[in-house]
Amino acid sequence: MQSTPQTWREVDAHLSALFTPADEALDAALSAQQEAGLPAIEVAPVAGKLLHLLARMSGARRVLEIGTLGGYSTIWLARAVGPGGTVTTVEAEAGNAAVARGSLDAAGVGERVEILVGRGEDVLPTLEGPFDLVFIDADKESNTLYLDHAARLGRPGTVVVLDNVVRDGEIIRTDTHDAMVVGTQNALRMLAEDPRFDATALQTVGLKGWDGFALALLV
Ligand code: DHB
Ligand code: MG
Repeated sequence: MQSTPQTWREVDAHLSALFTPADEALDAALSAQQEAGLPAIEVAPVAGKLLHLLARMSGARRVLEIGTLGGYSTIWLARAVGPGGTVTTVEAEAGNAAVARGSLDAAGVGERVEILVGRGEDVLPTLEGPFDLVFIDADKESNTLYLDHAARLGRPGTVVVLDNVVRDGEIIRTDTHDAMVVGTQNALRMLAEDPRFDATALQTVGLKGWDGFALALLV
């Protein structure tokens, strides 16, 4: 079989059909997001399931998400923490937050999710930990700032997931001036070198093209 974006999508569709079958609340969240004109840059279904499983595997009860968008990944995380858990999610765009609020409430997990509207750089300093899992999926220029907050707001053993670390391979360019790529390169270096993290990163292909995520444990 040829490895092409088309076959990546077909395999992703196959895996999604197996592991993330149709789900009323998640499907409705994507529809609401699309109707509101939000970009379709939420995590792929299989990646949402991965976040869900990581949260459950780590026994997370308090989750921090940076970058809510329309609440798709937030629903996966909120389901993982269970009725006694909480998800705090930070969103810079009030319109996005409103869409997310509607979808989280409709999904029946609204009570366990707090959406903080504001820029990460303003909102994160007001938070207190410890959080058990931090998912960073916001403006890539601020990735190192967000990792710094994740380290501050976590505890030894906290799981940190950083989305979009490959960006069609752009992260190996040494001559790039793309601020999102530079922010991601800096974040990867920080995860590798900063003694507060023990980390790795994986490439992914599929529905969302060629990208990847980093996974870290707070030391
Ligand atoms: C972009 C952001 C994301 O979080 C993502 O998953 C894909 C793309 C972006 O801003 O380009
Ligand atoms: Mg992302």
